[in-house]
Amino acid sequence: MPNLPWILVEDYKSPGGWVRPEQHNARARAYCELLESGQILFFRELPLQLPPDDRTFLLAQEWSELRLHKNVSYRPSEDLLRGVSGDGRTIGRLHSILRNYSSQVVEFLAKFLQPYAGRWVLDFASFRPIEEDGRDLPLHKRNDLLHVDAFPSRPTRGGRILRVFTNLNPSKPRVWHTTENFASLARKYAEAAGLRQIAEDDSFIGRTVQNLGSKLGFRGMGRTRYDMFMLRFHDYLKENSDFQANCPKVRLEFPPLSTWIVFTDSVAHAVMSGQYAIEQTLLIPPQALVAPQSAPYRILEGIAGQALVS
Ligand code: SIN
Ligand code: FE
Repeated sequence: MPNLPWILVEDYKSPGGWVRPEQHNARARAYCELLESGQILFFRELPLQLPPDDRTFLLAQEWSELRLHKNVSYRPSEDLLRGVSGDGRTIGRLHSILRNYSSQVVEFLAKFLQPYAGRWVLDFASFRPIEEDGRDLPLHKRNDLLHVDAFPSRPTRGGRILRVFTNLNPSKPRVWHTTENFASLARKYAEAAGLRQIAEDDSFIGRTVQNLGSKLGFRGMGRTRYDMFMLRFHDYLKENSDFQANCPKVRLEFPPLSTWIVFTDSVAHAVMSGQYAIEQTLLIPPQALVAPQSAPYRILEGIAGQALVS
């Protein structure tokens, strides 16, 4: 079990400007290291500006009456809102709230996690207005089962999935479960999930080339063996009812208006309840990591005894 699953961050603002730039940089690097080693950074209060009017608007809509998919998503690179349709003014306002939120997160992280600044690929943001408790979703889409994240349409080629969440619910916490760290999960389950077959599959390189295409991914590149394995591992963990029922669990309650930052490709998570969260995802390339030895691709390469990213 990780020692403490989360770290409370209270000193993220530079008090009165007396922190010298090199101290600021050392602190930013230490936060990157904590995140990369599997800690969740937790802020009791909003570290960014989200106007109260916008929050009220997000809570006041009858989202169930709009045609809503799993979540509402926003793609910053194309300035596109997806997953919801209905009254134009409501959709327009939602679009501008997510656009503003996304740019605020980027501005905040460029200072707070300075070693990653400008090196990330800005992925999607989302608004999650549906109560998570009791959602009826197909097994692989269920988020109340412990899993690590992997995106079928966006291979990371060893890069990492960093996510910033804010609980917008004014009265109820967002409740997560987490479990053992990635290294333990990989040691116990990577073999059963098919790491060896993926590592030894000689036909794989041919298929990767076929995958090339700008729509598919990280800087326009195709899937690596690592990406294949992570998709498999995501499904394997959700399908494994013995693991889901019997693995050690830590319950985390994120209170109203708190924010947390986490690498969800290594911290296994399940959302048990909660309604109204807003989230931004960033992909951090391997070259920008401050502790690459903690990256899931390195841990898996150690187990497989060969390179999985190339
Ligand atoms: C997820 O499993 O990636 C989503 C967690 C959440 O919505 O709180
Ligand atoms: Fe997830």
